[in-house]
Order: sequence, then structure tokens, then C-alpha cells
Amino acid sequence: MDFLETCRSRVDAELDRRIASGSASERLQEAMRYSVLGGGKRIRPALTLAAASALGQSADAALVPACAIELIHAYSLVHDDLPAMDNDELRRGRPTAHIAFDEATAILAGDALQALAFEWLTEAPGVAASARLAMIQELARASGHSGMVGGQAIDLESVGKSLTLAQLETMHRHKTGALIEASVRIGALTAPGVSELSLNALTRYAKALGLAFQVQDDLLDIEGDTETIGKPQGSDVARAKPTYPALLGPKGAREHLSSLLSNALQSLQDFGPEADPLRAMADYVVTRTH
Ligand code: IPE
Ligand code: IPE
Ligand code: MG
Ligand code: MG
Ligand code: MG
Repeated sequence: MDFLETCRSRVDAELDRRIASGSASERLQEAMRYSVLGGGKRIRPALTLAAASALGQSADAALVPACAIELIHAYSLVHDDLPAMDNDELRRGRPTAHIAFDEATAILAGDALQALAFEWLTEAPGVAASARLAMIQELARASGHSGMVGGQAIDLESVGKSLTLAQLETMHRHKTGALIEASVRIGALTAPGVSELSLNALTRYAKALGLAFQVQDDLLDIEGDTETIGKPQGSDVARAKPTYPALLGPKGAREHLSSLLSNALQSLQDFGPEADPLRAMADYVVTRTH
């Protein structure tokens, strides 16, 4: 998809430039670069840029916030793969950070990326101080105990259990949905004076898409192949994770996915062609093969 490719190259260049120096330890810096650069679809930063564009904003002010969100995402993957969590050895087609380096370095790289994300938000060029503050609050809530980390805790507590559909949805909304929602809302916050109405519509879009994203991730875990998905196929099954296909079957999960896609698109009905990148991102998220 053209929009995503363009975002990816802008985001990759900015990340590469921004994580070039500054670490007290060379090995830590290397592990941070390894974890962030060299792969990654950059869906979250692209959503930030797409949300800004839906509100008529240029990508310029949204770029650094978009990169900050990707840092949180990269840190979440490094920790997600650790032996104490999913214990996976492959990520983005390469050894996971704790395999390429060592466990302690991977933990520290994740910690450092998390702090760096907030540092970048404090200095985002072209964003008013009040909007920076709102972005920091948005990202903190979406990342921590009330968001992604909370969802990861539910995920680990749920191993081997069968959850109800409502419980599964709660887990997914936190572990994956929260950061996707924040990606869209932070993009919207780059538009000075964004209306409640627009922000609410974009939030509805993001909530549906966030859930859809994890349903497709769960489907790829059973239907993808390791080479294409770049991470070990069957990891969820091996670790008895509750997933949508486990609960609804692959067909049920796919039906659920298409109704989430319609909800996401429906939420954008009052937007014109300026929201086409968001529409294209939604199609991409549910049809992606990795
Ligand atoms: C994978 O996210 C982790 C989940 C939240 C399910 P992505 O599929 O966006 O991973 P990358 O960044 O492209 O590797
Ligand atoms: C991870 O979900 C979500 C976060 C990293 C927050 P998964 O454990 O399903 O992600 P993958 O499949 O390892 O990428
Ligand atoms: Mg996990
Ligand atoms: Mg995992
Ligand atoms: Mg997964």
C-alpha cells in the first residue's frame, strides 16, 4: 500500500537518525537500534500520520509523535518475547533481542525505549506545549497498567484458561487496542482545535481497528507460516493462549474480523477523501499476511 510505504520510509529514516547516539552504553544503544530498526510494518506511526491527514494536517508535526509510539511498540515486543513472557526466539524474521544480545540487555533496551518515547513527545517540533502534554497523557495511559501492560498481564494470567468472548475482548482491547487507539488520537491531537465530534469518530474507528488488528494477528499465528510472518507460527497454540480462533474457530474469527472492519469504516462516514489513508489502513490491517 502506497501510503504505508511512504510513511514507513519517513518513519524509518527519522528513527534511524534519532536513535543514533546518546546512550551511556554502546551495547545498550546497539540493542535499542536492533529492536527498533530493520523491520516492522510501522502500522502505528502510519495511523498517526493518517489521522493527522484526515484532519487536514501535514505529516510534519505528527512525525516525531508517530516515532515515539513506535518506540513503545518496539519495547513491548522486546519484553513480550522474553523467556518470562512468550519465550519466542524469532521476531521480524530475525532472532529476538534477548537471543541476539542477552536477557538483561533486552530488558534494559525495552526500559530505555519506553523512557525515550516520552522524552521525544516532550520535544515534538511543531506541536504546541498543551498538545504535547495531552499526547504524553494519552500515551502514558495507553501504555501502562490501564492499557498495554495491563493487557499483557491479563494475557499471562489467562494462559491455559478458556475466556468468554467478553473477557477475550477486554484482553485484546488493552494489550493491542490501547496503543492503536492512542496512535490515532495522538495524530488527531496535532490538529489545533480538533472538535470533540471528530475525535470521537476517530476514536470509534481506532477501537474497532485495534481489536481487528489482534484478531488478524491471532489468525496469522495459526494460518500463517513462520517465514512470512517473521515470528514463530503456532506460538499461541504452543503456550495455550486464549485467542479469537481458539474461541470462535477460524471461520468465526474471520466473520468477527469483517464486522470490525465495517464498524471501523462506518465510523469514518462523515469524513471525505482526506480520510482515505485511514480507510486504506483498515483494509490493510485485516488483509495483511504478516
Ligand atoms: C505485533 O505487532 C504485536 C501485536 C501487537 C500483535 P505488529 O504486527 O504491528 O508488529 P511489527 O511492528 O510489524 O513487527
Ligand atoms: C503482543 O501480542 C502484544 C504486545 C506486544 C503488547 P502477541 O504476543 O500476540 O504478539 P506477537 O504475536 O508475539 O507479535
Ligand atoms: Mg504475547
Ligand atoms: Mg508474543
Ligand atoms: Mg500474536
